[in-house]
Amino acid sequence: MTYPLTALISDLHSNLPALTTALRDARERGAERFVCLGDVIGYGARPTECLELVIDAIAGADGRKPGLCLQGNHEYAVLSSGEDFNPNARRAIDWTRDQINHGGPTGDKALTYWDFLGGLEPFAMEPGAMYAHGSPRDPVREYLLPRDARDSAKMQANFDRMRALDPEGHSGVCFVGHSHVPGIFYEDGRYYRPKGSEGPYDLGALARCRAIVNVGSVGQPRDGDRRLAYVMFDGRSLTFVRLDYDLTTAQEHIRAVSELPGHLADRLALGQ
Ligand SMILES: [Fe+2]
Repeated sequence: MTYPLTALISDLHSNLPALTTALRDARERGAERFVCLGDVIGYGARPTECLELVIDAIAGADGRKPGLCLQGNHEYAVLSSGEDFNPNARRAIDWTRDQINHGGPTGDKALTYWDFLGGLEPFAMEPGAMYAHGSPRDPVREYLLPRDARDSAKMQANFDRMRALDPEGHSGVCFVGHSHVPGIFYEDGRYYRPKGSEGPYDLGALARCRAIVNVGSVGQPRDGDRRLAYVMFDGRSLTFVRLDYDLTTAQEHIRAVSELPGHLADRLALGQ
């Protein structure tokens, strides 16, 4: 089994400066493809620009392998409704829907964006790994937070789902996002939370001890660290990456849009 050196990005949340920095850094590290775990949009002020970059990155048109993008809960909400979102997130999703309908910078891409968003799947599996936005058993909505490492029933239900999908353990790791907090949950109950850029980190024999890896968030980290987060993985070794980006510009983008609550800019500086 050959697994390409893959950059796993998630929860970009329309943060163009963060996404641009993450993509450039991953390319410099030799990423052979990109896998995006969803929530390209929502919260931030550059949804169509981020969609363009993700569509381009996963196409592999620059000599890299084709990648994939999953549906996150914000993609689901923009396609349906944000009625279960909090007021700030709902205002952002309604504004994002308008931006997509306006067709992006050139004004003619609305159908391209809606086709892309409508075609996203909530879960994917291949030799070497599984992918979900939230969790293996509830790919779009379930959060896996650090405190869940102590919730053995919840974690075991998710590992049972992985085992049912892949009894032989060929895809013993599931990459997720959604909580915006990077970390590794092991099936034996261990939980590992990186304190910054760390790795390469050997995931070990995943057929015997499965793992769920949260790759963190590129566009809106929530672990108290304002730096963008993503993961590089080569099929066995994993590197957690944290990077500064042009946070001030991302905040200015949000504050320039009257429909977006200022709190969405403030929280970027807090990493919350
Ligand atoms: Fe998210």
